[in-house]
Amino acid sequence: METKNGKASKPVTEKRLRFYIETYGCQMNEYDSELVRSILLESGFGEAFDPDLADAILLNTCSVRETAHNRVFGRLQSLDRLRAKSEKVVVGVLGCMAQSLKMELLENSIYVDLIAGPDSYRSLPSLIKGTLEGSGKMSAIDLSEFETYDDIYPSRLEGVNAWIAVMRGCDNFCTFCIVPYARGRERSRSVESIVEETRKLADEGYTQVTLLGQNVNSYSHDGRSFADLMNAVSKVVGLKRIRFISPHPKDFPDDLIDCVASNTRVCKHIHLPLQAGSDRILEMMNRDYTAEDYIRLVGKLRDGIADIILTTDIILGFPTETRKEYEDTVKLVEEVRFDSAFIFKYSERKGTVAARRWKDDVPPEEKKYRITRLNEIQKGISLELNRRFIERVMEILVEGPSKRNPDEWSGRTDGNKMVIFPRSHQKSGDYIKVKITGATANTLKGDIV
Ligand code: 5AD
Ligand code: SF4
Repeated sequence: METKNGKASKPVTEKRLRFYIETYGCQMNEYDSELVRSILLESGFGEAFDPDLADAILLNTCSVRETAHNRVFGRLQSLDRLRAKSEKVVVGVLGCMAQSLKMELLENSIYVDLIAGPDSYRSLPSLIKGTLEGSGKMSAIDLSEFETYDDIYPSRLEGVNAWIAVMRGCDNFCTFCIVPYARGRERSRSVESIVEETRKLADEGYTQVTLLGQNVNSYSHDGRSFADLMNAVSKVVGLKRIRFISPHPKDFPDDLIDCVASNTRVCKHIHLPLQAGSDRILEMMNRDYTAEDYIRLVGKLRDGIADIILTTDIILGFPTETRKEYEDTVKLVEEVRFDSAFIFKYSERKGTVAARRWKDDVPPEEKKYRITRLNEIQKGISLELNRRFIERVMEILVEGPSKRNPDEWSGRTDGNKMVIFPRSHQKSGDYIKVKITGATANTLKGDIV
């Protein structure tokens, strides 16, 4: 039923439909789930926080590595239990697996009622209702060159950080990566709409935002660069910390280094995916920089930004990578000394250039050896670097109870280091000073001063 203003209205007797959403993968998916939540609430749905109570169960999926993909398949199988209880429940797959699942959906080889790709979330209310009304399986997977959801204000759950997607998609086509196929072409939102979203967030009490993009420093809108955007966002009254992920090493211009160095609200933490330390592998990956370029950039960052915290992503066992080339990555890790690193085994993704051109020929046990050893080396470096903070007094933004021990709380430094401290009367969102008393490879311990 439609009202004059085009909004759906429901007879009072009709049951309000409820959705439940589960998010896999990266922070962009977290943000997208908040967009989906907003779209569905706005069109009259209610949110269920338990899948057993939902009319529509939505999985916002990730396909970047096989493990994430398998986890979603496992979850879909376990949802059969609900299907057995209630014929009516709709199970939907959103996000990066949408493209690759289309065939399986048509062939009925998986239990899914609807599929919506990352650019189709506006049609979710009608897709869900259509499926519930018996129109059969539905899908909307077309990618758009324009959709940025610029006008939708995400419905965020609690937390001290607000994600803001400033650009979507990726045009880099690193040969191992499914993202350009799953999420389409790069497009950026306007500076004005991002500043407006930040203003609303600051009014709601958020003091930290993280600007998100698959390749966030390719941001460009009406001649304005990513540094211009960060400087504009940083003027929003009430905001204290601005973070951003993930930049690509090939587009890190000097104005961005200056912005991070001189803008006191921009956090001094850069996550700079390296991927590999061998030039032959970097070229096969289509990364567009050499190991030397990367080291030069790190030198500039360290010269320009005092106390910069550097973290990275690395892929081991790319097709044809030799032990010697792996050692090049190890050497680079030892030279750069990252604060921390996410290290992944290469995972072949169907449809990517790497999957089409090269066999996934590094044996699983060799990949395991390489990842275990590099993780050990990185752990040693992280521990040494974390120890340098002992005795220092640092400001942290309080997040909440620590996962391990609810009597202890956690917060993060400007450089994104997690600090665990014994709670007295702090609340989430407070900024407090702590003196660091201990360090492990992953966290710092501190006492409130
Ligand atoms: N195999 C392994 N790791 C991958 N990543 C992206 N694609 C793959 C793949 N096919 C990693 C990269 C990227 C991070 C988000 O995921 O390191 O930076
Ligand atoms: Fe994937 Fe490369 Fe784009 Fe990052 S920059 S999303 S790794 S294609």
